[in-house]
Amino acid sequence: MSEQTRRILYSREKIAAEVRRLGQEISRDYGNQEIMLVGVLKGSFLFIADLIREIQTPSVVDFVRLASYGSGTQTSGIIEFRKELEMPIRDRDVIIIEDIVDSGYTLECLYNKLLLQQPRSLKICTLIDKRARREVEIEADYVGISMDDGFIIGYGLDHDERYRNLPDIYLVEGA
Ligand code: IMP
Ligand code: MG
Repeated sequence: MSEQTRRILYSREKIAAEVRRLGQEISRDYGNQEIMLVGVLKGSFLFIADLIREIQTPSVVDFVRLASYGSGTQTSGIIEFRKELEMPIRDRDVIIIEDIVDSGYTLECLYNKLLLQQPRSLKICTLIDKRARREVEIEADYVGISMDDGFIIGYGLDHDERYRNLPDIYLVEGA
């Protein structure tokens, strides 16, 4: 992918402002009641690292690793669990931390799986919500930025495993 095929869509300043707002909302909603953040690897690793530092509420962290994409930019619809939770979530207040919700298949699959483990509450926080692309009915409780369509990279988001390290989010043109 050459330089010409991408342009900045969300700057690092815009991302930081939204992450700060989300941290404030979560802190306000949960107060001093301990929460468990479940990061969805790999895409959410930068988001969760920044978000947790904006949260005042006592927090514990765990990760799952899901994969739904091959090397293309469309969902395969097949969700693979490559890493399970290490901590029990029963009776905990859990928030799933996603980088982006697109068709919603990944999140629906994870949400239903975690619900079976009987958390006290289960909410969803996503940095990016591509609401127009939703194919299943699932809504995030906390949304950083809503966008219509297009494939984006940077700030943890990849295209074929690359570009996760870009500090801003770019729209890939022609993807
Ligand atoms: P869904 O199952 O279609 O909602 O896909 C969600 C997953 O696909 C996300 O967790 C991302 O890993 C990946 N994904 C969806 N859209 C994009 C994008 O625009 N850029 C990079 N990854 C994406
Ligand atoms: Mg993801």
